[in-house]
Amino acid sequence: MYGKEIERILVSKEQIAARVKELGAQITKDYEGEPVTLVCTLRGASIFFADLVREIRGDVEIDFIACSSYGAGTTSSGEVILAKDLSSPITGRNIIVVEDIIDTGITLTYLKRLLLARQPKSVKICTILDKPSRRKVELKGDYVGFEIENEYVVGYGLDYNQKFRNLPDVCVLSRDVYGG
Ligand code: IMP
Repeated sequence: MYGKEIERILVSKEQIAARVKELGAQITKDYEGEPVTLVCTLRGASIFFADLVREIRGDVEIDFIACSSYGAGTTSSGEVILAKDLSSPITGRNIIVVEDIIDTGITLTYLKRLLLARQPKSVKICTILDKPSRRKVELKGDYVGFEIENEYVVGYGLDYNQKFRNLPDVCVLSRDVYGG
C-alpha cells in the first residue's frame, strides 16, 4: 500500500479513530461544566487535534502554539525554540495541550513550564502516541492514545524531514531512510 520507505503500519486509521473517540469521551466527562482551551502543538498534532476536538462536547476553545526541539533527522537537539505563541491569554483557564508524541519529554516539559507561568487554572497533556522508554526527563501524559516501542514513526501528522504527515495510518519508517 505504501512505498518502500514505509516498513509497516503500526496503528491503523481505524484503531486511531476508535481511540480518539474514547479520549474525546473521557475529556468530555472530566471537564463537564468547565470551559477548556485545547492547545494544538504545531505541526505534528494538527491532524490528531482536528479529530479530537470534534469528539469533545462542551465549552471548548482552540489555540495553537509551535515549538521545536528537532532539527533535521530523528534525534532531539535538546534545545527548544518557541516559534509561535498562543493567540489568547490563558490566565485562569483549563488548558489541555494536544501533542502528537511524547519522546524524550523535553518539548512538553518546556511547554508546560511556559504555560504554567501564565497562571492557568490547570494544564493537562493529551498525546496520541507515547514512547515511555525514550524519556530523558520525568513527564507523564494525562491522556495517552497508544504507548509504542522505540521506533521512529510517521503519518497521522508525524513527519520525517517534513514528509509523510499525510499518511492516514501511523507507520514505522524504514531504517534505510534514516540509517538507524
Ligand atoms: P520530545 O521533546 O523528545 O518529547 O519530542 C517531541 C517531538 O519530537 C514530537 O512532538 C515530534 O515532533 C518529535 N518526534 C519524536 N519521536 C518521533 C517519531 O517517532 N516520529 C516523528 N516525530 C517524532
